[in-house]
Amino acid sequence: MNRPAHPPRTLAVLVSGTGSNLQAILEASRSGKLPLEPALVVSDRAQAPALDRARQQGVPAFSLERETFPSRSSWESALCEKLDQYRPDLVAMAGFMRVLRAETVQHFAGRLLNIHPSLLPRHPGLHPHRRAIEEGDPEHGATVHLVIPEVDAGPRLARIRVPILPDDTELLLIERTKQAEHRLYPAVLAELASGRLAVTPDTVFWKGARLESPLEFPFS
Ligand code: GRF
Repeated sequence: MNRPAHPPRTLAVLVSGTGSNLQAILEASRSGKLPLEPALVVSDRAQAPALDRARQQGVPAFSLERETFPSRSSWESALCEKLDQYRPDLVAMAGFMRVLRAETVQHFAGRLLNIHPSLLPRHPGLHPHRRAIEEGDPEHGATVHLVIPEVDAGPRLARIRVPILPDDTELLLIERTKQAEHRLYPAVLAELASGRLAVTPDTVFWKGARLESPLEFPFS
């Protein structure tokens, strides 16, 4: 698959909840560390605090609640339509708690990213922190990957590691991992904006060559 013609310039963010990753992205953009313009934020929950964070920074923010649509496909069509109005070069899921249908993933193929709080391929899906502690993992972390129809299984761009400490609880590990996510996601997006990192629907490139295993933060 050929590399994209030009690096991305605009970004949409999909959220469902608190939006601390969104906040990290917006702050990086505002400070100039991330040369991507946040075009819009969309939430599947009208009450998501993430929407307020976006509005406070002057970013257009919309909620599209699944329950207000007659079917999953009509909701996803509305989501595609809203995103298409703004024509974002990238769509970043940041705590977006919905699995999108294959048609929708295909619609955004090569532009749709997600952050998952584990060192993928370990612990895809729910409760990754709890499972990492229960299974005695020595470390944990977060991964930014391309979205494909299979959950948390798309080509990986980059990971960041955090230690698992002897007395860790799930909550402590969630918080430590989130702090790491806030460093990783803006950094990955900045590399995409610079063109050093590039994605197609099924391939990740780093400095012009196909990336075989994910970058480890900090990148060099
Ligand atoms: C993050 O841990 C993200 O990786 C996961 O959901 C959490 C969202 O947190 N998918 P926030 O809304 O960004 O604070």
